Amino acid sequence: MAFFRLPIAAEEPPSVRGQGLLLRTPRLEDFDAWSALREASREFLKPWEPIWPADDLTRSAYRRRLKRYAREIEEDAAYPFFLFRERDGALLGGLTLGMVRRGVSQAATLGYWMGQAFAGRGYMTAGVRLAAHYAFDTLRLRRIEAACVPYNLPSMKLLERVGFQREGYARQYLCIDGLWQDHLLYALLRSDFAPDTPSP
Ligand SMILES: CC(C)(COP(=O)(O)OP(=O)(O)OC[C@H]1O[C@@H](n2cnc3c(N)ncnc32)[C@H](O)[C@@H]1OP(=O)(O)O)[C@@H](O)C(=O)NCCC(=O)NCCS
Repeated sequence: MAFFRLPIAAEEPPSVRGQGLLLRTPRLEDFDAWSALREASREFLKPWEPIWPADDLTRSAYRRRLKRYAREIEEDAAYPFFLFRERDGALLGGLTLGMVRRGVSQAATLGYWMGQAFAGRGYMTAGVRLAAHYAFDTLRLRRIEAACVPYNLPSMKLLERVGFQREGYARQYLCIDGLWQDHLLYALLRSDFAPDTPSP
């Protein structure tokens, strides 16, 4: 019964490329670029993310992060990606297909962040489309969920541009920037996405 089967064991670390971009699993050698981009984007990202632990940008915390990522991929629980520009290899941001639910759900939750210097150039729109292809074509999920605070206009516009539909409003849904904040709930179904979205 394919429907209840655990997914595709990842022989290769997950990756997907298209539109001049590469989404791939974070590696140890990405540490310098990642920590520099996160540090340079700290004030830009802070209002929209959980509070960063004090040691978040250290190499040892990054090693722990990679171990957690490897375990989550192995367990089919989450698929974290970094987003790179192919022409120069620049790290642009990151996306995670997390909280994978199999069985009768076949769904995951999408999160994303963009380095400040690369925002507003269409990269995350393309990155989310690549992640959706990975979710629907490779992981065989049916539904991707995403949530954002109701005043995060760039995030709302991004989701709606890709085809996500607004489905609800969840009170005190996530603790963002130290406060339990209400969120808009969005979802993209495989059937919303497949008809007119070219493969990477
Ligand atoms: C939300 C966020 C991820 C969006 O990423 P982004 O890379 O800026 O998104 P995009 O560039 O794909 O968005 C497209 C915007 O760029 C413009 N754009 C410029 N060049 C473009 C191109 N070649 N193709 C498509 N859009 C382009 C679009 O017009 C659009 O602008 P508009 O939304 O004002 O209409 C980013 O702003 C971010 O990280 N914000 C802080 C953290 C955050 O909010 N995280 C999400 C929490 S839910």
